[in-house]
Amino acid sequence: MKEKNLLGQFYTPRPVAEFMINWVLGEKGDDILDPAAGLGVFLLAGKKRRPNLRITAFEIDKQTCKNLSENCHFDFNLKNQDYLDSVLDEKFGAIICNPPYNKFQQIPKRKYYNKLFKENYGISLSGYSNLCVYFLIKSVNELKANGRCCYILPYEFLNTGYGETVKKYLLDLKIIKHIIKFDSRIKLFKDAITTSCILCLEKSDNGYIDFINVYDLDELEDFPKNATRLAIGEIDFKEKWLNYFNSEKRAYVCNNLVCLSSIAKVKRGIATGSNDFFVLSEEKIKAHNLNRSACVPCVTKSQNLNCCILTEEVFRRLAEKNKKMFLFDGTKALSKGDFDYIAYGESRGCDKAYLTSHRKPWYSLEKKDSAPILISVFNRGKLKIIRNEAKAKNLTAFHGLYFNGNVTEDYINIFYCYLITPAAREILKRHKREYGEGLDKFEPNDLNNAMVLDMKAVSQSDKEKILKIYGLLKADNNQSHIIELNEIFEKYIKT
Ligand SMILES: C[S@@+](CC[C@H](N)C(=O)[O-])C[C@H]1O[C@@H](n2cnc3c(N)ncnc32)[C@H](O)[C@@H]1O
Repeated sequence: MKEKNLLGQFYTPRPVAEFMINWVLGEKGDDILDPAAGLGVFLLAGKKRRPNLRITAFEIDKQTCKNLSENCHFDFNLKNQDYLDSVLDEKFGAIICNPPYNKFQQIPKRKYYNKLFKENYGISLSGYSNLCVYFLIKSVNELKANGRCCYILPYEFLNTGYGETVKKYLLDLKIIKHIIKFDSRIKLFKDAITTSCILCLEKSDNGYIDFINVYDLDELEDFPKNATRLAIGEIDFKEKWLNYFNSEKRAYVCNNLVCLSSIAKVKRGIATGSNDFFVLSEEKIKAHNLNRSACVPCVTKSQNLNCCILTEEVFRRLAEKNKKMFLFDGTKALSKGDFDYIAYGESRGCDKAYLTSHRKPWYSLEKKDSAPILISVFNRGKLKIIRNEAKAKNLTAFHGLYFNGNVTEDYINIFYCYLITPAAREILKRHKREYGEGLDKFEPNDLNNAMVLDMKAVSQSDKEKILKIYGLLKADNNQSHIIELNEIFEKYIKT
């Protein structure tokens, strides 16, 4: 990873910095702290707005500090050190920050910070926390009474597991005034795949939070108005706060829903550690003279599937088109071709990859049954949901949905028909993670925690109709059948 990215050096665009500075200084703010100053965009905007502003700034990187001093021709207190373990002997009327956004794997001092934060601020942060939330928690504790704090952050933390502790901490302090969410099409940071939000905090007893959508940067010229105001008591730290930004969605009350995990478990697909070696097309199987019983049918890529129902016939046609539809399972090696292929993999270092070097033997596959329903992990717009009649295995491009206990094929088909309806997708979408530029992701637990229609609510006569439609969909893959299915299921969900 480039050093720039390790330090989280993504600079705030000027209109956003000016909006944040205007809000955080308000009418009278005269002192400010920037815990991650970079090239000083906030300092310049602050001095412009209030020439007598007293500034304290942290920047860990020596060269960036030098550039910062050259950029800012005024006196300020610059500290070239790690903000997170610094000890400050004063509190501030205003704190503004665009912190580094580093995933937990990229925080070498994670354990040290976690211990420090437990001791200093009484918060046990999850080991999966993004670096930015450490900055936020420290800053909240360095505010004067009635002081304001404004942070720009990846919006993801409002919707992920590790964010729950942070949301609870901030809710208990009643410190959040506004959360401004940028539409996922607004790309604020070059090269960073993330949707951003601005947290506006004030150390006073706030009884409600405004959830504000911004669709265009021009809306920041005035304070954006597109808000949903919720009382603190209505806000649950365990919910994905994505749902609070749109009051219409909240008004859409659903009936007969149960948690998906009470019906099935969603699990990630097979990670091979060396797709070049394990993933096979027909041509490759023939070229290496591999024995068929060592070639396991598998969905390797989301792009390979444009159907709803993956029948054996559809699978066969894809394989004939030379799509990569098989995995090599070296533990089933029988022929000379198979053993030569294993040796060929070793000659190319495929046994030395992280996952293969930790697996015994390196050429075996993760043990996972084929899943009856597959759900794509990354999506632009629409989730791909596949009924896997062909009983193919799946790589990590899809999650597999496994039913709890024994269920009949009819039950699976009816449940599948429900999942592909717009009504079901709308409810599932509440659990998605937005990665910016329209890219959404579901982790297995996002889906496990999602709500779905309880099939027990569906009448016997409707179940028969649904199975007939399933048969038609299988025969012609015509999407108009999904509209018919939606009409049937929607009446059980909507009040
Ligand atoms: C996302 S950039 C933001 C810079 C600037 N405030 C802006 O908005 O354009 C974060 C900055 O924090 C610095 N940084 C990273 N870790 C830090 C730490 N532990 N203490 C202080 N600064 C840090 C990085 O070098 C980087 O310049």
